[in-house]
Amino acid sequence: MKGIKIFTYVISVIFIISLSSWCYGEVELDIAPMEKIEQDALYYTIQGFVGDWWNGSDLYPDPCGWTPIQGVSCDLFNGFWYVTVLNIGPIHDNSLSCAKNLEFRSQLFEFKYLKSLSFFKCFQSQHKHQVTIPDRNWEKLASSMESLEFRSNSGLIGKVPSCFGVLKNLKSLVLLENGLTGEVPQDIGNLIKLKRLVLSGNYFTGHIPNIFSGLKELLIFDLSRNSFYGTLPLSLGNLTSLLKLDLSHNYLEGNLIKEISYLKNLTLLDLRSNRFCGGLTLSLQDMYSLEEMVLSNNAIGGNIMTLKWEKLHNLIILDLSNIGLIGGIPESLSKLKKLRFLGLSDNNLIGNLSPKLSTLDTLNALYVSGNNLSGELNFSMDFYTKMGTHFGALNNPNLCYKVGVMSTSAVPYGVKPCHHEIKLLESNSRTKQLNGYVNKTSHYIASLGFLSYAPNGFWWIFLQEIWIMCLV
Ligand SMILES: *[C@@H]1O[C@H](CO)[C@@H](O)[C@H](O)[C@H]1NC(C)=O
Ligand SMILES: *[C@@H]1O[C@H](CO)[C@@H](O)[C@H](O)[C@H]1NC(C)=O
Ligand SMILES: *[C@@H]1O[C@H](CO)[C@@H](O)[C@H](O)[C@H]1NC(C)=O
Ligand SMILES: *[C@@H]1O[C@H](CO)[C@@H](O)[C@H](O)[C@H]1NC(C)=O
Ligand SMILES: *[C@@H]1O[C@H](CO)[C@@H](O)[C@H](O)[C@H]1NC(C)=O
Ligand SMILES: *[C@@H]1O[C@H](CO)[C@@H](O)[C@H](O)[C@H]1NC(C)=O
Repeated sequence: MKGIKIFTYVISVIFIISLSSWCYGEVELDIAPMEKIEQDALYYTIQGFVGDWWNGSDLYPDPCGWTPIQGVSCDLFNGFWYVTVLNIGPIHDNSLSCAKNLEFRSQLFEFKYLKSLSFFKCFQSQHKHQVTIPDRNWEKLASSMESLEFRSNSGLIGKVPSCFGVLKNLKSLVLLENGLTGEVPQDIGNLIKLKRLVLSGNYFTGHIPNIFSGLKELLIFDLSRNSFYGTLPLSLGNLTSLLKLDLSHNYLEGNLIKEISYLKNLTLLDLRSNRFCGGLTLSLQDMYSLEEMVLSNNAIGGNIMTLKWEKLHNLIILDLSNIGLIGGIPESLSKLKKLRFLGLSDNNLIGNLSPKLSTLDTLNALYVSGNNLSGELNFSMDFYTKMGTHFGALNNPNLCYKVGVMSTSAVPYGVKPCHHEIKLLESNSRTKQLNGYVNKTSHYIASLGFLSYAPNGFWWIFLQEIWIMCLV
């Protein structure tokens, strides 16, 4: 049996090999030519990045033909092959990988139909051999170029050349996680066909330029993780197609301008970790499409009650942690039926936490730690069980959970039990009270994974402190 199997296998392999060499032959016959200048452009350009040792000799002589170079795609124009896509860097195992002393060669700008150029983990040397983006010749690629990307090139430094502004057909400009510095050139505002502009994770600085009134087709705009400062430019409000706006992790300041709310199709607004102030702008409540609103770690301030939160009925993620909010937690939040994440930690919120929030079926994270909430938490045991560690209510000194309804496995972390029962006891037996409390507390501690016994030394003092805290 085994012998027959192997025999069949060998036969089919031979068949496949001969079939493919037959096809190969067919293609070779009507292979399209490539202009010398285009082919040289390709080889010299690649050598510039990969090293002079590379000459393609082990490849099929036509780089666009049967065995194309990994990362290179071509198209036929008037019967000739032209390079349309050039991806440099280790995207696949057999991709061209970059040399240490690499350079942009002038031949890069001789491609006639280059649509898409990308560099991934290519310019890597941090100190020895840093490279800047050429600041000339881009106009030669202007009629064809639609996508230009530099991703994860820590050794790519210097400024964004202002002549990028000539690339009028650019739909995607991605400069993600490189070592780029300086300001964003005003000329970027000329790129009116842009759909994606990502400058995230560099060392860009200066103001966000007020250049966006023409970028009507922009869908994704990401300046996160840079050092931009100053206020938001009003022309952000002209980006009416925008779906995602991420300005997080910069030093931006000033008000949340009402112009942001003109972005009626926006689904993501991420402004976390900046220095915004001036309160929650009322018009934020009109951004009906928003699915994620992340404003955490700012100095925004103001009263959380000012917005009609129920209007933002598409919200899935709402993070208002650590932005200096005052007021009570609005009941209207419990009308956001798609909400999965609600972060309200580290504000100055007061009052009760309405058990209505537990009626949100989708909610699977609720953080209210570090406020001044008070009263009893009236959530059901099921709710705590469902949320697990995704319910956070620590550091609200006047908040407690109802002991009666609680199984020891489901107590909210860091919240003390309400002590109604203890209060009802006559105060003639301190030990009795303490015992009662110790019994509950040890359950609580056990559920956190701590030792539940050892009523001496550290734990004893700890328990006494809790007990005293509860009586005040
Ligand atoms: C490519 O390089 C090999 C050795 O690395 C050399 O033998 C061959 O002649 C070169 N071919 C071309 C076209 O330069
Ligand atoms: C940009 O928006 C402002 C209002 O915010 C408007 O007056 C102006 O006409 C818009 N510009 C363009 C080019 O649409
Ligand atoms: C907003 O989205 C809707 C529905 O997807 C679309 O019809 C409309 O054109 C978009 N608005 C803009 C300004 O792109
Ligand atoms: C929790 O329940 C108690 C009585 O069971 C009630 O007095 C209190 O108002 C409730 N708190 C909230 C926030 O609903
Ligand atoms: C917390 O709220 C209580 C009233 O519930 C108030 O007496 C107290 O001063 C507040 N504490 C802080 C730090 O704001
Ligand atoms: C505390 O628990 C022990 C057993 O673990 C029990 O004997 C004792 O009566 C309890 N004390 C109170 C006040 O419930």
